[in-house]
Amino acid sequence: MLNSLTSCLLLAVAPLGISAQGATGCTRDFLQAAADTLVAAQTAGNPSLLAPVSSNAVYHENFKAAALTSGSLSRAVKVDHSRHSLDTIQCATYTEIISATGSKPYVIGVQLFFTDLKVSKIDLLSTTTGDWLFNATGTLNWARKEDWGVIPEAQRDSRAVIKAAGDAYCDIFSNKTVVVPWGRPCARLEGGAYTGNGGPNDRCDVGIPSGVSLVDRRYVIDETVGAVSIFLSFSGIPDSHEFRVEGGKLRFVHTITVMNTGGGSGKGKGKKRRVIRGHE
Ligand SMILES: *[C@@H]1O[C@H](CO)[C@@H](O)[C@H](O)[C@H]1NC(C)=O
Ligand SMILES: *[C@@H]1O[C@H](CO)[C@@H](O)[C@H](O)[C@H]1NC(C)=O
Repeated sequence: MLNSLTSCLLLAVAPLGISAQGATGCTRDFLQAAADTLVAAQTAGNPSLLAPVSSNAVYHENFKAAALTSGSLSRAVKVDHSRHSLDTIQCATYTEIISATGSKPYVIGVQLFFTDLKVSKIDLLSTTTGDWLFNATGTLNWARKEDWGVIPEAQRDSRAVIKAAGDAYCDIFSNKTVVVPWGRPCARLEGGAYTGNGGPNDRCDVGIPSGVSLVDRRYVIDETVGAVSIFLSFSGIPDSHEFRVEGGKLRFVHTITVMNTGGGSGKGKGKKRRVIRGHE
């Protein structure tokens, strides 16, 4: 009796627990452990290793409702590299997974959203051979060279500044008057192609197309590493843009763009060719 009364009271006050500190109990350790189970699940090809998951969790793969039990996590993938962003304010994570040395190459991005400390939404983007500029070997090489490490507290940007930098980049595809805080150096890793060479003169303000709407944005922000993950519709194509922001300026941009939607027809490819002519 007392127990059930106590849990009712806890449920009733739970919404009040969401504050500037984030959701109650949603610590970095909690998010790290949960995101680690995602990588374990993908490695083993066993979706049931992902935990803790709500019984009514929503699973989207390449922006379509799908079954978690038969989706990407049910394929064992050799994970060569993974990196998490942890968002204690929203209680969410973003994980980048690169597999270049297994039997089939993959670059995978996953946003997890938690409710009451259980995964309530899984949004997974999976790319492989045939997707936009796909080259997992290139992705792995460049991703390993970059420093996405923790930024000393005194030098960290606010969530608002990090989000605004990512948004400005996404906005300029449709509005050339937007001022983007370009860093120098700054490098873009897209599919497996790199706009720089890892040197001090790398730049990101090259080959940006126009007339493309990057909309329906879902964010995961980790200010300890200056990162914002944005899942978005790239004129209808499922897409992930992730940014590393340093001193208010863009340092790295990673994209994952899914072309092989709709039963592997690759239908989006011609469309993206048309909208991204500037990249080629
Ligand atoms: C993929 O990237 C690697 C490493 O950057 C490069 O050596 C290789 O030529 C690329 N493959 C293709 C098909 O572009
Ligand atoms: C384009 O960006 C400018 C600068 O941020 C802004 O003032 C303007 O409203 C934007 N235009 C549209 C159509 O969104």
